[in-house]
Amino acid sequence: MEEKKDVLILSIESSCDETAAAVTRNGRTVLSNVISSQIDLHTLFGGVVPEIASRKHTEKINSVIQMALDKAGVTLDDIDAIAVTYGPGLVGALLVGVAEAKAIAWARKLPLIGVHHIEGHVSANYIEHPDLEPPFMCEIISGGHTHLVIVKDYGEFEILGRTRDDAAGEAFDKVARAIGLGYPGGPKIDKVSKEGDPHAIEFPRAKVVDKGISTLTFARGEHQMSPYDFSFSGLKSAVLNYLNKCQMTGEEWNQADVAASFQQAVVDTLVDNAMRAVKDYGVKKFAIAGGVASNSALRAAMAEACAKNKVDFYYPSPILCTDNAAMIGTAAYYEYIKGNYSSGWDLNAIPNLKLGER
Ligand code: KG4
Ligand code: ZN
Repeated sequence: MEEKKDVLILSIESSCDETAAAVTRNGRTVLSNVISSQIDLHTLFGGVVPEIASRKHTEKINSVIQMALDKAGVTLDDIDAIAVTYGPGLVGALLVGVAEAKAIAWARKLPLIGVHHIEGHVSANYIEHPDLEPPFMCEIISGGHTHLVIVKDYGEFEILGRTRDDAAGEAFDKVARAIGLGYPGGPKIDKVSKEGDPHAIEFPRAKVVDKGISTLTFARGEHQMSPYDFSFSGLKSAVLNYLNKCQMTGEEWNQADVAASFQQAVVDTLVDNAMRAVKDYGVKKFAIAGGVASNSALRAAMAEACAKNKVDFYYPSPILCTDNAAMIGTAAYYEYIKGNYSSGWDLNAIPNLKLGER
């Protein structure tokens, strides 16, 4: 009998402010996962500057790829396919990865697999959980997205809800800036919250109801409203109003208490929404993904809620929650084995690529 050959994929991720490359074997084994972060550079400006991100990707990408190959102990001769994030994200940043992936695939006559960034985040869960197979429910919580989906099969999603305004990570970043923590907001709020009282200030938890939203208005009108939708802009405004009120009245406010109370409101919303859907759909497996999924308070609260509801809970290690290329290689593998080398030489960066679109 012919022995089944391993499939080695070289994957590239450059959708935002991390230049990343990885080598994965048969989807779930990570041979290398190199991430060059631009955080220090963007911290000077209080957030990601798209033009600087693109330039930095161009500068770093070749060495990051070489490092990924070296760490995996392979050369391009061993690679079976090239995978790359082609959307959503910053267009100039995405283009650097897409152009690089095309060049390598063309020169080496290898299949090119364009991967949806959010599909990558979901796939991060496969890496450390060999038993996890679709179908399962997943909450994807990142800087640009907040989605609740059913992963029906590899690469097949049913969207149950999404944010109607800000993404959860965006709210973390904006609130962090307002309370003087700066960029990147999420990890800083996570850390400082450990010193604060999560019930010092009761910020509002937006309840999204069937025919609209009880406390906030609907900002982006392009999709059907759902009772599983999220909304975080009202919470962000409530924090800003609280700070303004304190300033006007001369009242002292405590950074750790504001951070912890804000974080608790986000965590409650994310857990409540997810557990409502878990019960309604009767699912037995629930996963989280995306940068905010590395939040320590969220992980603890979600683990407790899942245990209470007798649902198996899956979450990636923090390094696989935030942007990385290994998750892109994992997502690409399932396209590869389906024979979907759909990406042609005209593969382009699509900044607003929707989940489920190709
Ligand atoms: O998934 P990701 O790396 O990039 C996007 O696809 O957006 O997510 C980045 C987001 C940022 O908003 C960051 O503040 C947030 O994830 N984040 C966190 C934590 N670590 C990163 N939010 C809360 N707690 C954390 N520990
Ligand atoms: Zn991401």
